[in-house]
Amino acid sequence: MRTCKIAPSILAADYANFASELKRIEQTDAEYVHIDIMDGQFVPNISFGADVVASMRKHSKLIFDCHLMVINPERYVEAFAQAGADIMTIHLESTNHIHGALQKIKAVGMKAGIVINPGTPALALEPVLSLVDQVLIMTVNPGFGGQAFIPECLSKVEAVVNYRDKFGLDFDIEVDGGVDNTTIAACHEAGANVFVAGSYLFKADDLVSQVQSLRTALND
Ligand code: DX5
Ligand code: ZN
Repeated sequence: MRTCKIAPSILAADYANFASELKRIEQTDAEYVHIDIMDGQFVPNISFGADVVASMRKHSKLIFDCHLMVINPERYVEAFAQAGADIMTIHLESTNHIHGALQKIKAVGMKAGIVINPGTPALALEPVLSLVDQVLIMTVNPGFGGQAFIPECLSKVEAVVNYRDKFGLDFDIEVDGGVDNTTIAACHEAGANVFVAGSYLFKADDLVSQVQSLRTALND
């Protein structure tokens, strides 16, 4: 059984107070901080870049799980490594050279993740699965927090579990988008073990008990 990890998404936090928001996350038992990087091109929204991640790094020792929604993310591999990112997850749809981009992430010492949009089939992941430490299956269309979970994406989680078994590989499977105490169990059931949650966690004043409610839902 893989360890279940909770990844609070800082996209739903107060951007004027990253330092104190990171402290709030550290008070929970969440394993990761999920950091969404958006360029206004791959997705309509713009969020923050490597310099902001570098500033956050000074305030936290948690694992930084960076999700790049950026065209040609290979351009930013060195910048994110230097900023202190631990995991760099890039979209299959964001570059013509996904294999080389993943190799580049690993070459600089970060963990490499691959992510697919709801409209991309799991089959497209097969050629690069041996390169990755994490597969992220989007359960909303990327770009914004607070959207409704798309349950049809869970069959792709199951497909990736099958690939992992078939090829004898070792990577985590993460889900992102619309994850809350009503949807997390189905994600786990399908085979995911890393759970990103933004609006569900940050809408509460008490982040500790909100993270705990996800663990409870996982164990029910
Ligand atoms: C969406 C981002 C998510 C977002 C999730 O493009 O990748 O990480 O923060 O937010 P919720 O949990 O509110 O769906
Ligand atoms: Zn994300």
